[in-house]
Amino acid sequence: MSQRKMLLIDTDTAGDDCTALLLAACWPGVELKAVTTVAGNVPLSLGTRNALTTLEIAERPDVPVYPGAVKPLMRELFTAEHIHGSDGMGGSNFPEPSLQPQDEHAAQAIVRLINEYPGEIEMIAQAPLTNLALAYSLDPSIVGKLKRLWVMGGANNYIGNDSPAAEFNFFVDPEAANIVVHAGFNLTMMGWDVCHRSPVMAEEHFREIEAMNTAFASFYMKVLRTGMELGLKRTGQRRLSHPDTLTVAMAIDNRIMSRSGRYYIDVEYKSELTRGYSLVDMNGVLKKPPNAEVCLDADRELFREMVFTLLQQH
Ligand code: BDR
Ligand code: CA
Repeated sequence: MSQRKMLLIDTDTAGDDCTALLLAACWPGVELKAVTTVAGNVPLSLGTRNALTTLEIAERPDVPVYPGAVKPLMRELFTAEHIHGSDGMGGSNFPEPSLQPQDEHAAQAIVRLINEYPGEIEMIAQAPLTNLALAYSLDPSIVGKLKRLWVMGGANNYIGNDSPAAEFNFFVDPEAANIVVHAGFNLTMMGWDVCHRSPVMAEEHFREIEAMNTAFASFYMKVLRTGMELGLKRTGQRRLSHPDTLTVAMAIDNRIMSRSGRYYIDVEYKSELTRGYSLVDMNGVLKKPPNAEVCLDADRELFREMVFTLLQQH
């Protein structure tokens, strides 16, 4: 049996999404089948452009990019330029990419690809779950055909980021998140708590990256600039949580998810106060069967090794 990993990434491409894409596009043994984009961190057109720019830098013009939903299922879009810069790329203003997006809608592309490769694709959803909820509504049979779904979203009974109660991706489209967690996918949740409890990259790591002097290292420092500056302002030190890149790294090398457990999870969508809150029933109080594997900790050393290897490469 082939050892290659067939990946499909759904992204609201900005900041950490870019390095996550770079990793999937360049890591040996990974076959990145496609990238689908969705409104989230930035509006859809900008996120799509950033995905194309990233694939251009990765020298992967062969990876198709399918734009999807321009807004969440039921709500107005809430964006995060304050975290990722006005262009979503640390204010670096990269030139217009020469690559072009595909005409097919992301939700249709997701359905088509999963049906073309039943049991083979692992999908990483690192953005609001709008495209995946739409894909599921178009064809619920994808649930049994997707090998594994990695969701960067939610938080395991932990503080949120853009709301006190919720992580950004679940907050932006809580209805979509609710649909996806109850759909029956072979789902792994990589929540905000895992990467926020202690920083994944800190000052000493950035110094190492700066010293690499490669095109990828310079891209990394540019696209993550706004996030790093925010860390500096808040804590006196540059630091990053890397939720999306960490999720892709875990999908590529499962050892990076150093601890996990199976639990029942749910997403709040009715209350405005706790919109997007993710419940993880750690004590089994609700007596409901587990619907997700929940990541409880990450091997940060192994993750950094992977990112350093990537950034040294080119
Ligand atoms: C998530 O929200 C976005 O800002 C990041 O891209 C990541 O997917 C973290 O809450
Ligand atoms: Ca993201």
